[in-house]
Amino acid sequence: MHDKPGNIVILTGAGISAESGVATFRGPDGLWEGHRVEDVATPEAFARDPRLVQNFYDQRRAALAGVEPNAAHLALARLDREWSGDLLLVTQNVDDLHERAGSRRLLHMHGELRRAFCLSCDERQDSPATLIEGATCAACGASEALRPDIVWFGEMPYHMERIEEALSGADLFVSIGTSGAVYPAAGFVRVAAAHGARTLELNLDPSEGTSFFDEARHGPAGTLVPQWVDSLLG
Ligand code: OAD
Repeated sequence: MHDKPGNIVILTGAGISAESGVATFRGPDGLWEGHRVEDVATPEAFARDPRLVQNFYDQRRAALAGVEPNAAHLALARLDREWSGDLLLVTQNVDDLHERAGSRRLLHMHGELRRAFCLSCDERQDSPATLIEGATCAACGASEALRPDIVWFGEMPYHMERIEEALSGADLFVSIGTSGAVYPAAGFVRVAAAHGARTLELNLDPSEGTSFFDEARHGPAGTLVPQWVDSLLG
């Protein structure tokens, strides 16, 4: 353990965007915007019913226009600007609220609603507003080959090498607004701790992995995250 953290790795999940009005994945009804996760967030679901899946993500993408970063996103962006040590913000979220708040040292490990990739040539690109009517790939010109650039269950999360490198050099690991139900992200706390990092959970209620953290604070991210950033930056 280190007294003064130099290198910080932060993991965020759907809970950090909840106060902006973006639905979490595992709400009280167990559904994500009315759907079971396996009906919209797996390659099998896409193969079975591509229009349902495209329509679902088209709606999620359109909803971004109606939401704004909240105090928690803004506090993390301030930390990014003012922290002189290494800092990496890893988000499981597919919304763009961290970048709109101003975070720069940011990786989207589960992809992004605003990006698409081509099943014909594998090229990643900015997504058109909707994909359901069969958008044309900007790279190879294939029609009806674009899918959301979202990591579905059974697919490999992005940037794992860079994330593991950051975790192995972290002095402080902070997990914010995530249920700790989905791996590999749920295992980051133990990787960081094994390399000597202090670990802190900020979540509305205890996550599935809460006992792995040195410290856990429970409450809304819009309150807890600005408090934590203020204390860190003095
Ligand atoms: P979940 O919906 O599983 O968990 C959200 C967590 O945020 C819960 O523990 C809530 O208690 C907490 N929470 C809710 N409101 C909050 C608030 N205002 N402040 C702080 N915490 C709050 O979402 P994730 O953990 O992000 O993957 O889910 C992980 C992955 O599962 C997602 O990235 C997604 C999903 O399936 C893919 O799509 C690949």
